[in-house]
Amino acid sequence: MIEFLISGKLMSKFFSTNYWAVGFQSKLYDWLCPESYFESMRRVIAAMPDGKSLNLLDAGCGSGLLLQLLAERIRGGMVYTGLDILKAGVDQTLLRARKLGVANRVSCFQSDLRSPLVGQKFDVVVGHFSLYTLKSPDQRQEALANLKAVMEPEGLLILVNPSIDYDASSIVDESIRLIRDRHGMLVSLIKKFLIYPFTKAIGLRFIKKQLRHGEWKAYTREEFSTEIERAGIAVQHMEEVYAGSAFLAAGKLMHTP
Ligand SMILES: C[S@@+](CC[C@H](N)C(=O)[O-])C[C@H]1O[C@@H](n2cnc3c(N)ncnc32)[C@H](O)[C@@H]1O
Repeated sequence: MIEFLISGKLMSKFFSTNYWAVGFQSKLYDWLCPESYFESMRRVIAAMPDGKSLNLLDAGCGSGLLLQLLAERIRGGMVYTGLDILKAGVDQTLLRARKLGVANRVSCFQSDLRSPLVGQKFDVVVGHFSLYTLKSPDQRQEALANLKAVMEPEGLLILVNPSIDYDASSIVDESIRLIRDRHGMLVSLIKKFLIYPFTKAIGLRFIKKQLRHGEWKAYTREEFSTEIERAGIAVQHMEEVYAGSAFLAAGKLMHTP
């Protein structure tokens, strides 16, 4: 039924335009988020340097899920700045910061990745599943140039984007496995039968369709690395995340001799 609804033309148009905003406002985005997605964020955090007072930019922060996982580090001194093109995302991120009691070290503002950012520089710049929604290579280069411009000289850029092997079933299967290992059989069964069918129908399959039609970008490992290096960032690390459905790349500014 759900699949029938979202495959309809009208629904499909509505989804394309309002997909993230409705998801953030209704909190559906958070509720339906598969465990494997959180695991990908944990890999992002694992790639960050140690250091209490890191200044971090979350570029395309959405509803601030990464902020949630960073709460402990923020309490310990990290400074978090989020940006998103959607007010709904900015609002949810700031609300989350207040609920977590870290609002004093968090700021978040509405901005387009394609517009230059002014002001401070960051030790870590993260783009977790955000740049791939920019359709053309030129738009993504523009965004990368803007992110590069706000990196500290020794700063780290960490990007996660979908791969051409994006597969909804693998993401759900891995999520169920992770939940079972961490929270036990009962919780994994609840997720499997009551939550993840919606995750798949409303979320993952829609994203897959966008990737297949070229509305959003799915990468080979080489394409991802080439795109980042073209922007003047030397890729130092690349790994598969999200059940093989995405790549995480970490890199630093190329220093010209
Ligand atoms: C898949 S969501 C990821 C959100 C968050 N990083 C996460 O992992 O939960 C993609 C996000 O990128 C944001 N985004 C897309 N295009 C953008 C742009 N041009 N400038 C700023 N944010 C953008 C969307 O609004 C959305 O919040």
